[in-house]
Amino acid sequence: MTTGREPLRPVLYDDAADRVRLLDQRRLPDEERWLALETVDEVVDAIKTLAVRGAPAIGVAAGYALACAARRGAGPRELAAAAERLTGARPTAVNLAWAVRRMSARFADEPAALLREAHAIRDEDEAACRRIGALGAELLPREAQILTHCNAGALATAGYGTALGVVRSAFEQGKGRMVFADETRPFLQGARLTAWELHRDGIPVTVLTDGMAGWLMQRGEIGCVVVGADRIAATGDVANKIGTYALAVLAAHHRIPFYVAAPWSTVDLATATGGDIPIEERASDEVVMLAGQRIAPAGVKARYPAFDVTPAALVTAIVTERGVVRAPHAEGLRALARL
Ligand code: MRU
Repeated sequence: MTTGREPLRPVLYDDAADRVRLLDQRRLPDEERWLALETVDEVVDAIKTLAVRGAPAIGVAAGYALACAARRGAGPRELAAAAERLTGARPTAVNLAWAVRRMSARFADEPAALLREAHAIRDEDEAACRRIGALGAELLPREAQILTHCNAGALATAGYGTALGVVRSAFEQGKGRMVFADETRPFLQGARLTAWELHRDGIPVTVLTDGMAGWLMQRGEIGCVVVGADRIAATGDVANKIGTYALAVLAAHHRIPFYVAAPWSTVDLATATGGDIPIEERASDEVVMLAGQRIAPAGVKARYPAFDVTPAALVTAIVTERGVVRAPHAEGLRALARL
């Protein structure tokens, strides 16, 4: 089902110019515009403004930002301060803090070692996504009609994707029939990013607004749900894009399997339960404005928790590159941690 195009990799490093290159996700699908960033603060801003987004992808971008700073002369103290600013850019996705921690262990080394570490973070994430894809596809039925939420694709990772890695692998095996993509806010990631990257690969995709899933489930048009994750607590509770919890409740009601696909770097055994996961609150304007236009009356404010938590009890299986975890999730995660 693939078109044979170059695999999509949204975060790169320009070795010759020492710059972090990001495919600007705010411009897709209209324009494939690459940013070339030279400072940590430019990368922090790109993460905050969603030029790069998706838990693993922002971790990869942070790794390259720190390598870039080191190669441009920053010493351990400056790198430590930069690490803090990067970690604070988005609090829910643990991959960001994880990648920064991994880089921090190299701050005293020569700059080349930091770049090697950042490349390793990227390469390992893409390899993890491919393994997750293969393991997840085994769980799906033939002729799968798959619902996904937001974008947990190549664009949200180093490449290939987590939830969309499962989708890609299923379609490569001739197992898939249709992918339904929930649009999500603040800039309609599902409609713009998931639809763009699947369409680019020749995978059939239908866009849904966020409230449609229940109706389609009731009509038997959705066979399973596959989503990504921003953080998985020790209990197996899963933080992901706001709206994911509602889908999990709907899936349970309709007895549809609900799968979470994420690399091991998303599993945070130091966070005991879903209730301990910090949830990013974004600006009201990202809801009351759409594409630069105000859509709610002036003076009206919105809430915007960017993520929610799905209790482990609603998760049929968590698919990581280390293996697949089912209930009791906490026990399964502990077993994979020992590998
Ligand atoms: O706010 P976003 O667009 O960064 O939210 C993205 C998600 O919630 C993804 O599902 C998650 O980061 C996993 S990406 C593989």
